[in-house]
Amino acid sequence: MRTDVAIIGAGPAGLLLAHLLAADGIASVVIETRSKEYVAARIRAGILESSSVELLRAAGLGTGIEAHGDEHRGIYLQWPSERHHLDFTELAGRSVWVYGQTQLQADLVAASEAAGRTVLYETSGAALHDLDTDHPFLTFVDATGTPQRVDAVAVAGCDGSFGPSRAALPAARTSTWERVYPYSWLGILADVAPSTDELIYAWHPDGFAMHSMRSATVSRLYLQVPNGTDTADWPDDRIWATLATRLGHGQDGWTLTPGPVADKSVLPMRSFVQSPMRHGRLFLAGDAAHTVPPTGAKGLNLAIADVALLAPALGRLIGKNDGALADAYSDTALRRVWRSEHFSWWMTTMLHISGDPFDAQLQLSQLRWVTSSTAGATGLAENYAGLPIGF
Ligand code: FAD
Ligand code: PHB
Repeated sequence: MRTDVAIIGAGPAGLLLAHLLAADGIASVVIETRSKEYVAARIRAGILESSSVELLRAAGLGTGIEAHGDEHRGIYLQWPSERHHLDFTELAGRSVWVYGQTQLQADLVAASEAAGRTVLYETSGAALHDLDTDHPFLTFVDATGTPQRVDAVAVAGCDGSFGPSRAALPAARTSTWERVYPYSWLGILADVAPSTDELIYAWHPDGFAMHSMRSATVSRLYLQVPNGTDTADWPDDRIWATLATRLGHGQDGWTLTPGPVADKSVLPMRSFVQSPMRHGRLFLAGDAAHTVPPTGAKGLNLAIADVALLAPALGRLIGKNDGALADAYSDTALRRVWRSEHFSWWMTTMLHISGDPFDAQLQLSQLRWVTSSTAGATGLAENYAGLPIGF
């Protein structure tokens, strides 16, 4: 097969890149290890920044968001006996949208199928070749067990944290930074109406808790748990009781309504950046280049922002033989990546219990400042609601 851009990974980064490239007349082939059903069912992020929503709308992908998304003005930040609302629209002039990654993935698959684009699921053994020439290619085995080759002008590594693209950059010319946190999240999806109008981020001496949602009838909730936690040790009753304590059930008349748990999983927390995000004709986007802990709701938004820069860069490179944007891609993307890395680390360390009592006092002081000072609140609001794509 021959195409313009060979894309590894059919997650949000890979499928959105294929969509944006097609709008610019650039062809692509996407390969994916998992089945279409598996990718569609993965429960992950839930919040879109306003710049992500604007980009998706401009790309003709806004219908699902308009119909099923829910615009939120801000979040609640709380600690025992105090709950504060931060109004992002008032503070930073921007809102966020509750729209699940599963819904966005479904929109991207529908657009891809409607346009007849090539996405090959259930492939294996993807290998990247001749990346430092102007005729790179991929080899892999397709779903029928047949070896395949895709020749392209560029390769986009959109294969997440565990794909082969990251390792294809020469180690001698690559820097990595990593922070592993001493706690994880236990996440549940519950078939019950949310007990809150906007997301609640709760500091509690027993550990962080969060109340998010997917729709008027589906809630998403998280608990800080130790690394290595097994979901078998967390029956539904224990989860709801712990959420009730940490989220402040009964405080100022607020109640948490439990319901049937539809999904339960443990998510480790990690910060990671690889730089540069380019080697020759290989370009990394999304989780393939960086990971953030989910506390700042940045992972999916960063993947969208990378692709928003990469699509025009590849468009210029392939359509006009002009490499200026492609040359600038890594540096431009990394400015925003590091801002989001900092914000995600800051939210995480402000809200999770480390076990050190000095840390706990600093956290409470920081929370009081962020919720009582307009300057403090505005900093959080600007970062959470998202900076412009080209930041
Ligand atoms: P991915 O969505 O990971 O997509 C990469 C794709 O590449 C996958 O489909 C994978 O199967 C495919 N792939 C991998 N290897 C190969 C290969 N060899 N060949 C072909 N294809 C390959 N973010 C938040 O903001 N909030 C959250 O609550 C949240 N929860 C998360 C929970 C989990 C379990 C995970 C893993 C991530 C979560 N994230 C969350 C992060 C967010 O979902 C990601 O940042 C986002 O999915 C990034 O999109 P992506 O397309 O870059 O990568
Ligand atoms: C979610 O709804 O899954 C979600 C929302 C906000 C976060 C993390 C996860 O910070």
